[in-house]
Amino acid sequence: MKYYVVTYGCQMNLSDSERIAAVLGSMRYKPAEEISEADLIVINACSVRQPAIDRIYGLVEKLKKNKKEITTILAGCILKKDENKFSKIFDYVFNIKDLPNWPKILKKPAIHKIHDRENFAQLRNSNNYFDVTPKYSNKFSANVPIMTGCNNFCSYCVVPHTRGREISRPAKEVITEIKNLIKKGYKKIWLIGQNVNSYKDPSTGSGQAINFPKLLKMVNDISGEFVLNFTTSHPKDFSDELIETMVKCKKLSTDLNLPIQSGDDEVLKRMNRPYTVLQYKNLVKKIRKALPNIRLSTDIIVGFPGETKKQFNNTVKTLKEIGYGVAFINKYSPREGTAAAKMKDDVAWAEKKRREKILINLVNKK
Ligand code: 5AD
Ligand code: SF4
Repeated sequence: MKYYVVTYGCQMNLSDSERIAAVLGSMRYKPAEEISEADLIVINACSVRQPAIDRIYGLVEKLKKNKKEITTILAGCILKKDENKFSKIFDYVFNIKDLPNWPKILKKPAIHKIHDRENFAQLRNSNNYFDVTPKYSNKFSANVPIMTGCNNFCSYCVVPHTRGREISRPAKEVITEIKNLIKKGYKKIWLIGQNVNSYKDPSTGSGQAINFPKLLKMVNDISGEFVLNFTTSHPKDFSDELIETMVKCKKLSTDLNLPIQSGDDEVLKRMNRPYTVLQYKNLVKKIRKALPNIRLSTDIIVGFPGETKKQFNNTVKTLKEIGYGVAFINKYSPREGTAAAKMKDDVAWAEKKRREKILINLVNKK
């Protein structure tokens, strides 16, 4: 019996897929080279932007035409409304946090079973999906999740609704996983989470809890030769302690992703991003002064509800001023259940495309 995992979205989903592969491996499934050879297909979905969700419908339709008997599983970041729709075309719709229970559930012929989200707090106590040792997909570079979920509720973003609130992984577990990777010869370690800066070791009391800078230093101090990186950071949580620690961490890469999302204060406010452009710029100044070799990248959303041409031009101006190495430009699309979905999506798609192109040209020109 063979399996195939299709992954959409961010590094967290890629990392989850490595744990899914490990669990399927423990059930004696073998990886298939091609999706057409697989008996079991897992789609690890992303709901952050609409195109990834649209692609899933197309992909499943194609698979269904395939004559073979296949079992299909949907996992990943899925909205409740999509979960109900998808449950009609997938055999199973699973919450990733339920991963340790997959072998048990898959043994039963539970067609169209939706796994209950509300149960997940209970499951977590006994069954932590991070405990699954991943089947790493790369031999040199590994993603190591340190936390998942998000408490920030940026108004456009679906993550707090699909992944739930922030949960940090015990520092001891993180360190053990990384030590094992280094022993195996891994040369690049990415600490990943939706908001790594709000990491807090759950196994220590709140007074002396290991925070993100302390964890970063602990990882940096693991002996061996490797490059360390982390993603993603929220500017509001980027503390002086973190900058001072980064200076001390000699294994730290010079790449830093610091999403600004918009270069206009009004838009930032409506996005529920609690900083101003000036505060962001001052933070960049501080970071560059302490770490002169740093290469910044960022995420931008164009065509957020109510974004005027003038407000967009403020983003253009800000991008020019800051001078990023890379910028990931996203056209806004409303996500059901988010605060922004209640606002009027009043920037036409063609205009969103125009704004996207302007920013892409701006960054690529360099
Ligand atoms: N529409 C467009 N882009 C979005 N992002 C998050 N939600 C949306 C949305 N509704 C972008 C943000 C984030 C990146 C991962 O995806 O820029 O940083
Ligand atoms: Fe989404 Fe904002 Fe949380 Fe990032 S910080 S995952 S954009 S809500």
